Amino acid sequence: MKVYIPSDSAAKALGADAVAERFAAEAEARGLNPEIVRTGTRGMIWLEPLVEMERDGVRMGYGPVTPQDVPALLDGTFEGLGPVEEIPFFARQTRLTFARCGVIDPLDLADYEANGGLEGLRRALDMTGDEIVREVTDSGLRGRGGAGFPTGIKWKTVLEAQAAQKYIVCNADEGDSGTFADRMIMEGDPFTLIEGMAIAGLGVGATRGYVYLRSEYPDAIRVMREAVRIARAAGLLGADVLRSGRAFDMEIREGAGAYVCGEETSLLNSLEGKRGVVRAKPPLPALEGFLGRPTVVNNVISLATVPVIFQKGAQHYADFGLGRSRGTVTLQIAGNVARGGLFETAFGISLGEVVNDLAGGTASGRPVKAVQVGGPLGAYLPVSGFDARLGYEELDAEGGLLGHAGLVVFDDSADMLGMARFAMEFCAVESCGKCTPCRIGAVRGVETIDRIAAGDADAMPLLADLCETMKEGSLCALGGFTPLPVMSAVTHFPDDFATTKEAAE
Ligand code: NAI
Ligand code: SF4
Repeated sequence: MKVYIPSDSAAKALGADAVAERFAAEAEARGLNPEIVRTGTRGMIWLEPLVEMERDGVRMGYGPVTPQDVPALLDGTFEGLGPVEEIPFFARQTRLTFARCGVIDPLDLADYEANGGLEGLRRALDMTGDEIVREVTDSGLRGRGGAGFPTGIKWKTVLEAQAAQKYIVCNADEGDSGTFADRMIMEGDPFTLIEGMAIAGLGVGATRGYVYLRSEYPDAIRVMREAVRIARAAGLLGADVLRSGRAFDMEIREGAGAYVCGEETSLLNSLEGKRGVVRAKPPLPALEGFLGRPTVVNNVISLATVPVIFQKGAQHYADFGLGRSRGTVTLQIAGNVARGGLFETAFGISLGEVVNDLAGGTASGRPVKAVQVGGPLGAYLPVSGFDARLGYEELDAEGGLLGHAGLVVFDDSADMLGMARFAMEFCAVESCGKCTPCRIGAVRGVETIDRIAAGDADAMPLLADLCETMKEGSLCALGGFTPLPVMSAVTHFPDDFATTKEAAE
């Protein structure tokens, strides 16, 4: 008997370890000797802990399972969900980046290879740096951290820079509220990220890589460190990558927990052992990055997508998507939803389809009021905007920001003035303090919203003015994008601002 139980931290938070322990004990008591494989998650968090039992080569799903359910599971009396890959939420996905997540044992390199792993790297080893960078350019891959900058152009800048040493830095400081794709892939399929970083290194001529991983992700840190150790022992990393004569090695560095260290220049300062303060750009990190050397700084999902591009070819990847947003987007559905989790699909799906159909509306059963797309710096979109297609330019045209593709859903009990205040407060707390519009502006923003709440009508134009100053004058995205959630709340939910004013009057 082969049984799969996730060891992903979301599944563990919902009791997966206790289920695995009970399963092993109960099976032993019955004289059974099952092979229990701890996997990553399939991303259907409302079904976690999701236990999969293999029958005639098909993985049948059961979930959510509690330790008390285990005897019934072994008796065959626990009602199942059928084949896991036929559960509609899963069956409707296009899994390219997350193809192996939840399927394999994350730290079994042989399992990784048996499921298409290393095919991309082997292909890249036969290519020149120019050819590798062209392949990434042709795939249309854009930075999945949030800005959507073309990855091929970034790599080309580093490739063409002249320097004795270049670096690949993976930004795993996933700080956006409601996002978890980086964590999930690192916990569920770490070799994909390692392979992607190795291909990036071969492409631009960098022999060293770092993953800057936030301290709040202890499981991801543990899995990534172990995966790097295994990869090095297997000759996948080191002075002679897969006996090619080419070198690439990497290590995991732990961040200390500041949101702004997800901003690439702040991250580089932190990686160098300095205070995590934003650097002015230019110079771009691609030319003067880690220790002043040309550096590719890419998000986890960008780098973890590189292997499948090389495995299946740039055209295969580029054939998915909408407009200039090619390939797949790894949506993270969170907040007040009936079905939350990770959903990988081609760009172009509508916001309404994700919220109403896939997520099944709110968990509370009340009507949806707003969805914040793109993390704490993203806009609050109303239900009237649900026709918006999820693509970088398409969402931008609707006044939104796709960002790292996190969606947080709110029902009609949400107080949007309170949410706008929270955005300003978040900025005030997380500001690195380098520039005035953000450092002072966010504090004044909280005060101004408090004045609106107290019924001061004069504070409304002041808030709009302040947001304009922060947007135009801030040095980085934290101060520059905070006006987006604030002003989207004002624009789309005027009643929440007017009502308080009228009540005070
Ligand atoms: P940006 O637009 O300044 O830069 C995007 C990337 O392209 C950077 O890596 C930059 O160095 C690079 N780049 C720009 N021009 C280049 C050139 N000519 N050659 C080579 N490289 C070039 O955006 P930024 O400030 O890096 O990111 C802002 C985004 O970050 C926001 O849109 C937001 O969605 C996102 N964000 C994501 C978070 C997360 O947890 N994933 C947290 C906070 C913000
Ligand atoms: Fe620092 Fe805020 Fe200025 Fe960014 S916008 S550099 S976080 S003070």
